[in-house]
Amino acid sequence: MTKRVAILISGGGSNMVALVDSMTGDHPARPVLVLSNDPQAAGLDKAAARGIPTAAVDHRPYGKDRAAFEQALQAELDRAQPDILCLAGFMRILTADFIARWDGRMLNIHPSLLPKYKGLNTHARALAAGDTEHGCSVHQVTPALDDGPVLGQAVVPVLPRDTADTLAARVLPMEHALYPAVLRKFATGDRTPVFLRSGLSFPPSNA
Ligand code: GAR
Repeated sequence: MTKRVAILISGGGSNMVALVDSMTGDHPARPVLVLSNDPQAAGLDKAAARGIPTAAVDHRPYGKDRAAFEQALQAELDRAQPDILCLAGFMRILTADFIARWDGRMLNIHPSLLPKYKGLNTHARALAAGDTEHGCSVHQVTPALDDGPVLGQAVVPVLPRDTADTLAARVLPMEHALYPAVLRKFATGDRTPVFLRSGLSFPPSNA
């Protein structure tokens, strides 16, 4: 049976767009809701333009009351009845209670080769460490931040004059390839990991 997917965003939603655009034809899932914690998130308009129902639950009025914020999120999810939640640039930390409710049904994309660089500023941290490879990971969400079984990784080279911005710009298109590839398998119950590697190499392979 076709799986119903809700996508949670906080910003531009480029990963959300990649996921939505992938769920056509014989894909085993369909998007049913794009939900943001920021009513101004640019991704909401992109989802609406694609005919996907959208909703926003502004986290700010809830202050430190994460449970009340999540109750409001859950109310939107109850209306949409998703089978799978995809966090796609959703920048709020979720409580263990919320995560338990979605146990085994929630995915996240993180811009590092986990278990390296959980949390923020992943590109700058990879550069500071002198890594020669960097990338992104899709993982199942468990209560520990950016933890949980890795379902896919995409690797890019770190090039000599990279800044955090140039590295982020190299990783992002790989995110857009990786997340849909993982979701497609996940929606059929296939948890075997997906591995992608960008065509770029350094030094160039013909050097
Ligand atoms: C993406 O790079 C995603 O990996 C990252 O936020 C960006 C969202 O971009 N997520 C995290 O850092 C989660 N900890 P998008 O809104 O264009 O998809």
